[in-house]
Amino acid sequence: MHAIEARRVSKAYKDSRHVALNNVSLNVEPRKIFTLLGRNGAGKTTFIRICATQLMPSAGTISVLGYDVLKEPSKIRNVISIVPQEGRPLRALTPWDHVYNWLQIRGEDKKVAREKTENILNKLELYEAKDMPAMNLSGGMKQKILVAMAIATNAQLLFLDEPTIGLDPVSRRQVWSAIKDWKKEGGSILLTTHYMDEAEMLSDNIVIIDNGHLIAKGTMRELRKFIPQNIRVDIAKDGIDVDLLRSYGSIVDTGTDTIRVFTFESTIKELSEFALKRNLSFTISPITLDDVFVSLVANSVGTVGHNDLID
Ligand SMILES: Nc1ncnc2c1ncn2[C@@H]1O[C@H](COP(=O)(O)OP(=O)(O)OP(=O)(O)O)[C@@H](O)[C@H]1O
Ligand SMILES: [Mg+2]
Repeated sequence: MHAIEARRVSKAYKDSRHVALNNVSLNVEPRKIFTLLGRNGAGKTTFIRICATQLMPSAGTISVLGYDVLKEPSKIRNVISIVPQEGRPLRALTPWDHVYNWLQIRGEDKKVAREKTENILNKLELYEAKDMPAMNLSGGMKQKILVAMAIATNAQLLFLDEPTIGLDPVSRRQVWSAIKDWKKEGGSILLTTHYMDEAEMLSDNIVIIDNGHLIAKGTMRELRKFIPQNIRVDIAKDGIDVDLLRSYGSIVDTGTDTIRVFTFESTIKELSEFALKRNLSFTISPITLDDVFVSLVANSVGTVGHNDLID
């Protein structure tokens, strides 16, 4: 059984001219981290909210852990856990209260709830602040309370809508590690993020949606193939004739003071010589998910034709 099975799901909000989701079909495998990527307004949160039974689809069917979102929403709510995109902890409650009370509400006995609360607060470095009211905590610490609440539960499926927004690099890694532990213990995860390094680090499968349409899906390795080259070279613009670079690979306009060339290893030497001869600084790096995302979303025309990528 899939953790989520979505078939031709569409959503049109009442007072909106846009269709937020258009005919999206996808499967989220159990015990895997499945990542939804897409630009602002692509439809990611809408999809999560439909799966989490907070919002009705306009068309299509979705089952979550075997339950239909329309027919059995309360069954779904018992087995999922969410970090919502715009959640805020309650001002007067402490991190301890948030997590511990939440676990009690979800039916954990006191001893287990205490252990789990202690464990997650330690993992996310919130333990020292455990008795401070949330209103006296920093923005990142407030966000970590929400993550702690969701991850401490014994749900089977975790929805993480931009869980590491506003977190420092060390805290982000603590959250990543908690997410990986959750998976190790057999849980499934649906993640959204705008951080491509986070998506690369965590995802087993990735789907890209654009304007409500699913435009690509696959593992990191599969998505990488959308760009045929494997190396990118960024060269300072400094008045060079861009056309001269075309023979070395595909030119990408990054809108910055460098020109990006997607190319192959075999061309690195020549390109370096080109730059050195003109005294231009340059960097060489492998192509990343960031490049794939930008090129797919930039080329997307938002048609349903891409749905034949679905298995
Ligand atoms: N309550 C609402 N009423 C009307 N339109 C909405 C509502 N919520 C979202 N939308 C619209 O639906 C579309 C998808 O929004 P959604 O929040 O799902 O995007 P997203 O991919 O999560 O974006 P972001 O990365 O900015 O969080 C947008 O065009 C948005 O304006
Ligand atoms: Mg969103």
